[in-house]
Amino acid sequence: MLQAPEHGDRSSPACAYCPPAPKPQARPLKPLALIWTLKRNPLECWAAPHFERPIVGGGLPIGHVLLVHEPGAIRHVLLDNAANYRKDRMQRRVLSAGLNDGLLSAEGEQWRLQRRVLAPMFARKTVMDFAPAMLAAAEALIDRWSALGDRATIDVAAEMAKVTLDVVERTIFSDGFGSDAEDIRMAMATYFNTIGKISPLDILGVPDFVPRLSRLRVHSTLRFFEAEVGRVISARRRILAERPDNAPNDLLTHLLAALDTGSGDGLTEAEVRSNILTFIAAGHETTANTLSWALFLLSQSPEWRRRVEAEVDRELAGPIAGTADRLIETRAVIEETIRLYPPIAAISRVALDRDELHGERVRPGSLIVISPYVLHRHRLLWDRPDEFDPRRFLGAAHAAIDRFAYLPFGAGPRKCIGSTFALQEATLVLAAIVRRFDFRLKPGHAVWPTLRVTLRPANGLPMIIEKRLSNS
Ligand code: HEM
Repeated sequence: MLQAPEHGDRSSPACAYCPPAPKPQARPLKPLALIWTLKRNPLECWAAPHFERPIVGGGLPIGHVLLVHEPGAIRHVLLDNAANYRKDRMQRRVLSAGLNDGLLSAEGEQWRLQRRVLAPMFARKTVMDFAPAMLAAAEALIDRWSALGDRATIDVAAEMAKVTLDVVERTIFSDGFGSDAEDIRMAMATYFNTIGKISPLDILGVPDFVPRLSRLRVHSTLRFFEAEVGRVISARRRILAERPDNAPNDLLTHLLAALDTGSGDGLTEAEVRSNILTFIAAGHETTANTLSWALFLLSQSPEWRRRVEAEVDRELAGPIAGTADRLIETRAVIEETIRLYPPIAAISRVALDRDELHGERVRPGSLIVISPYVLHRHRLLWDRPDEFDPRRFLGAAHAAIDRFAYLPFGAGPRKCIGSTFALQEATLVLAAIVRRFDFRLKPGHAVWPTLRVTLRPANGLPMIIEKRLSNS
């Protein structure tokens, strides 16, 4: 365990780069300021003690809250005594808006059954088979960018949302959304831009039956999605019934194979639909933000830029099989990116029964908040916590990281089912872009992290792109 240095202590080489992040508040905010800041940018609520102490207790209008950033206590909540801590209402609502039957928000027996049925679809072997689809989406992006001509300015954040949606489309429905593809893409953009704003009514614990404006707005979009997904499912079912050998090897085929055939041991039709939407919701924006931040960080670090270029020039020229495993430094950049900017910046649970965490009393109903953002920059756990340094994720240094000090994908039974998928996707897409393009931040643009469902650059990420001479 490291000693806690003072904030601002920089015992690192001169070339060290600390990317933009809000300066922690001097002390925890009072309730009114907290509610206001939570609404504006929850990332700006964190105060110095959160980054320096293992556990900070506090009160919100919704009750007793413990902010927990001590690996042993986190392990206790998410793994050893997970049965005592259920997902809390607010997080489920924010992350899964409307997708109540999907894995992200299901509880109890429904969750257990779904997790068992869905796990093989995200196992390493299945995910490796998706590498060509991921690289094909990256190639489509590269073709689009190449057509823009030299020194075009693009919004990298919007472009990453497009490429990850393309990956979703190619891996879930490999034969495409069909004729309404553009309508579906636009509806998705509206949906994901509207969901997830934390309503002050949620923070105040106002009951669910009081309508939230944001939820009313997404309702019709959600119905549109469900109808469209229903249409795609019917079309695939016809193929599976009439020409099963021609059915594509994608997530939709796997999901339909998992439909309950009367034994009570599979998914219902509604669960299949909800899980398709859940995979899109949980998987597309998180990975898009990972890629945006990675490109930004590389644009600020000439050393890592050169290292990744050398690796991708060597490795992407070879066969596709196993490429992601050979991109060791590129992957370290992705892992360091989601340490500094974890897409899901808070994991929360509600205690069912009394307990104790690192000497602090937990009451029935206590809200436990674990913020990967705070944890990954915690002064007691990381050396030079605010500095971009992918070497942390190479070799012995990587092996020495405490499993419960690094939680971009959560931990325990409810850890991200798509983590292997996401890491592979982000590594391959980043590699493909770096191989073909130089990119630099548009002069004068100030990058700032903001939290809205996921941790993203506020006001997009305008960059100037240029084809790389050695690889055009
Ligand atoms: C960089 C990308 C991603 C990040 C950072 C991320 C992060 C997370 C985190 C932190 C959790 C746990 C939440 C909790 O314990 O309360 C989670 C759960 C989940 N994620 Fe991801 N995720 C990513 C990509 C994906 C992808 C690609 C998919 C699917 C295609 C996915 C599907 C899910 C699902 C279904 C759950 C709920 C699992 C359960 O409750 O059993 N995620 N994710």
